[in-house]
Amino acid sequence: MPRDIKIAPSILASDFSKLGQEVRDVVEAGADWIHLDVMDGHFVPNITFGPDVIAKLRPHTDKVFDTHLMIEPCDPYLEAFAKAGSDIITVHAEATTHLDRSLQAIRNLGKKAGVSLNPATPESVLEYVLDRLDLILVMTVNPGFGGQKFIHSQVEKTRRIREMIGDRPIDLEIDGGVTPETAPLVAAAGANVLVAGSAVFKGETVESYSGNISAIRTAAEDA
Ligand code: DX5
Ligand code: ZN
Repeated sequence: MPRDIKIAPSILASDFSKLGQEVRDVVEAGADWIHLDVMDGHFVPNITFGPDVIAKLRPHTDKVFDTHLMIEPCDPYLEAFAKAGSDIITVHAEATTHLDRSLQAIRNLGKKAGVSLNPATPESVLEYVLDRLDLILVMTVNPGFGGQKFIHSQVEKTRRIREMIGDRPIDLEIDGGVTPETAPLVAAAGANVLVAGSAVFKGETVESYSGNISAIRTAAEDA
């Protein structure tokens, strides 16, 4: 039975000078969600974009906007990212002192709440917030940059988190170094949403994006 795998291209790897076009192209190529990597130069050693850019992208597609906040603190900005049109807002467990409060705040804004874990963070931090979660994001690279090498120790972590989730309606998402080679490893471990930046935005045409997305999807579904 093929599993229902979602592919979430990260626009971090796209051409920032034509973001609207890139979003439309990747949607035409078969993207399920759009993954938006927000970096602050403090929690992670890189800076990307903020809520105003997301708000400008919102009219370009009705696909799910999957906003990955790599910012510390995050609480003061949640409302801005909700108003910008995010559907899911994911915060890092390492970037908020009061994770339970941050997750409640996201749901109170009417958005789906996600938590992301760096590679070195154990899955035990999820134990007491599972019922506040719509999504768990396992980082398979250290956040900050696209095009890094997949960290294999996170496959076992993914499997353990899939067990913790049980019957709860929580998406299990993987981010970092996802390719047709690594996608089957995390899909077999129970992941159902795959973020991919450099492996999707290769080739600069809708046709290449489409081939890149299909290759990842097929590899994951066959796992
Ligand atoms: C890394 C970002 C990722 C990144 C993935 O901090 O969260 O979403 O864009 O890029 P690739 O797929 O190239 O590893
Ligand atoms: Zn990301």
